Amino acid sequence: MNYLEYHGLEQEPFSNAPVTNYYFNSEQHQKALSKLMFAASNMKGLMVLTGEIGTGKTTLARRMLDNLPEEEYEAALLVIIHAGITAPWLLRRIALQLGVESPAEEKTTLLSQLYQRLVQVYEEGKKAVVLIDEAQMLQTREIMEEFRGLLNLEVPERKLVSFVFFGLPELDENLKLDPPLRQRVALKSTLEPLDAASTEAYMKHRLRLSGAKKMLFTEGAMKVIHRYSRGVPRLINTLSDNALFETFLSRAAVADEKVVEAVAQDLGLKADIEAQERAAAESAAAQGAGAKPTDDAAFDKMLEDLKKG
Ligand SMILES: Nc1ncnc2c1ncn2[C@@H]1O[C@H](COP(=O)(O)OP(=O)(O)O)[C@@H](O)[C@H]1O
Ligand SMILES: [Mg+2]
Repeated sequence: MNYLEYHGLEQEPFSNAPVTNYYFNSEQHQKALSKLMFAASNMKGLMVLTGEIGTGKTTLARRMLDNLPEEEYEAALLVIIHAGITAPWLLRRIALQLGVESPAEEKTTLLSQLYQRLVQVYEEGKKAVVLIDEAQMLQTREIMEEFRGLLNLEVPERKLVSFVFFGLPELDENLKLDPPLRQRVALKSTLEPLDAASTEAYMKHRLRLSGAKKMLFTEGAMKVIHRYSRGVPRLINTLSDNALFETFLSRAAVADEKVVEAVAQDLGLKADIEAQERAAAESAAAQGAGAKPTDDAAFDKMLEDLKKG
């Protein structure tokens, strides 16, 4: 008997594969998505969604693509797979994805093909929206300038193409490579980790979809999972999956706090969180003490702690 059978599950509830049918519309995801959808439908130009690793950016990008109706949008999702990509490669990929049949090698020709295609999309009454995942890997000025060029393509009442960049927080730094592009960011949104209530709802949602007939975690276990994952979905999955496996090994009925604590310890998440919590406490204490530094040594220590925090 494997652990799924043991728990009466038909499928893995906490797989880290980005399976769209497991999508959970958390308050955090819903907020981000509705802002992006609104901006896309108004052809706002450039939109940026950042979030730390595992918060659900790729999941959200796919969801957004699914939500853009074909009759209304010419939409595409492009994933940047490494930081070495060049501006010509990127332009060709965008052209291909938007339906330019044989994109030219030569840049001026390529740009004119792209322009013609965008006008055609516009005349069909559609909006061209290109979603770009792992956008923090766009790291050259040259690439940023190409985006700026494309965003300058307009008909009198609106832009011909909009872009949505999905990426890690350092994406903000990359955008600074090209200040005029940064100024064109029409919407900037951050995907926050789930709060405790959403974490619980997320876990229940996934358990239900994988066929669970009873609740497999205690309330306490879910609280501890929220603490060690900080509400990051990828970590919620890893902790929950391991906890279910350990519960199976010990032939217990439900995953409790103790199992989650042990799993978090093994995964190194416990040490991470404790270090973070300690640093936060110390920096809070240092700020309190630093309000009226009594001598130079205390003041220096406060500066040190602030730097660490
Ligand atoms: N809203 C969501 N609904 C269901 N699963 C999610 C959701 N957000 C994230 N996940 C899960 O968390 C994991 C990490 O999400 P992902 O989109 O890959 O994060 P990111 O791209 O920000 O690193 C994925 O395996 C996915 O299954
Ligand atoms: Mg991703």
